[in-house]
Amino acid sequence: FVIENDFVIRDPELASWGRKEMDIAETEMPGLMACREEFGTDKPLTGARITGSLHMTIQTAVLIETLQELGAKVRWASCNIFSTQDHAAAAIAATGTPVFAVKGESLTEYWDYTDRIFNWTDGEPSNMILDDGGDATMYILTGARAEAGEDVLSNPTNEEEEIFVAQIKKRMAATPGFFTRQRDAIKGVTEETTTGVNRLYQLQKKGLLPFPAINVNDSVTKSKFDNKYGCKESLVDGIRRATDVMMAGKVAVVCGYGDVGKGSAASLLGAGARVKVTEVDPICALQAAMDGFEVVTLEDAAPTADIIITTTGNKDVVTLDTMRLMKDMVILGNIGHFDNEIEVLSLRNMKWTNIKPQVDMIHFPDGKRILLLSEGRLLNLGNATGHPSFVMSASFTNQTLAQIELFTKGEKYGKEVYVLPKHLDEKVARLHLAKLGAKLTVLSDEQADYIGVSPQGPFKAEQYRY
Ligand code: NAI
Repeated sequence: FVIENDFVIRDPELASWGRKEMDIAETEMPGLMACREEFGTDKPLTGARITGSLHMTIQTAVLIETLQELGAKVRWASCNIFSTQDHAAAAIAATGTPVFAVKGESLTEYWDYTDRIFNWTDGEPSNMILDDGGDATMYILTGARAEAGEDVLSNPTNEEEEIFVAQIKKRMAATPGFFTRQRDAIKGVTEETTTGVNRLYQLQKKGLLPFPAINVNDSVTKSKFDNKYGCKESLVDGIRRATDVMMAGKVAVVCGYGDVGKGSAASLLGAGARVKVTEVDPICALQAAMDGFEVVTLEDAAPTADIIITTTGNKDVVTLDTMRLMKDMVILGNIGHFDNEIEVLSLRNMKWTNIKPQVDMIHFPDGKRILLLSEGRLLNLGNATGHPSFVMSASFTNQTLAQIELFTKGEKYGKEVYVLPKHLDEKVARLHLAKLGAKLTVLSDEQADYIGVSPQGPFKAEQYRY
């Protein structure tokens, strides 16, 4: 890795490739470009010191430069050890932006980089967090609780927690009071994904959220687009780049039929697979059935499945016992945020043959083999390049608006989790219509009056579910 001048990346030589792809991405990210146009002169993020923990991809590079054009200073790391696009990181480092992200970094490096995105060269703390999955937020809050004398660092239950605890202790020893000072300086956090949002609501419930948060995930123009249409494109992309397997005719099982599950099932169906779905929620199970998918339990489906993908955001969805039921050469992967959906730890003492980066063959004692993608980490970013730019533009426009909102009006908010108002959600969608050549129908005053809305929107009541 190249470690100098306040950045850690794979190879600075990749910067011009990254820049060319960013130029293309900009043409597919109308929402972010519109933010630059609308706010580029006023620069509402002037004074913002943003710690960003989100997959360091080409799309994220365009987000970073948008935040900077709005006046912010940023420090950036990936929120997953496999999701960095090294050419994107190189292009961002070439502009002098502190970025700490290497595809295939170790977990120790991951937590070191998460520390570095708070550790500004001028010694001042961050005042905003832009998080994906909640690790940056958790790092600061856990460290601050440890500094307050709470027993939060004892008894790590696995190797990853040990590494996390070691990093916090290292920083506590090097800079006493570091975490408390950071926590107290944070005006707010904007959170990208379902799993991170769950963590924030749990903190709020326990009275442990010390600053306001915006749940970007539950903007309609995020979860009903990125999670769904994004995965519809990027799941199959990941499986193909990893395995080159023929999907048509194969039996695929998708665990979970939430937003990511719906996109994933559609992705596999589009590739010609015969798709089955598992669910715990009767509503989502009924949706799956009425979308034409057989709803099964994983135990029943495992012996005949060729491809098994978890999308639940839950832990222990695929256990060692279930893996024992699977057939030889099954492709197993996860597209949910964390790697605990598949019990990968229980495979560690079996024989692994590495096929190529992020593709491993696991040999069971009885001779059966499993092709495991990205060691159980989110495979669309580990084995491919994540979602396409256009859908990330919608997500990141929400992120940008949320950062502006909390940075400029944070005092208005309590220590709770909020979603952006519906008129901003509609604005994000509106910004993406022209690119697709879509032309909106305009309500007449009489029609608007009849359905009880304003002709300019919002067009739906809060309880509407899309
Ligand atoms: P969701 O809450 O809409 O869907 C999850 C579904 O899984 C729910 O319907 C739930 O009932 C079901 N489920 C829970 N436990 C289950 C079990 N044991 N067996 C079967 N089904 C089970 O959440 P969403 O938005 O679909 O996100 C899922 C995960 O994907 C989260 O971790 C999220 O952070 C992540 N995500 C990943 C993306 C990617 O690009 N890889 C993009 C967006 C989200």
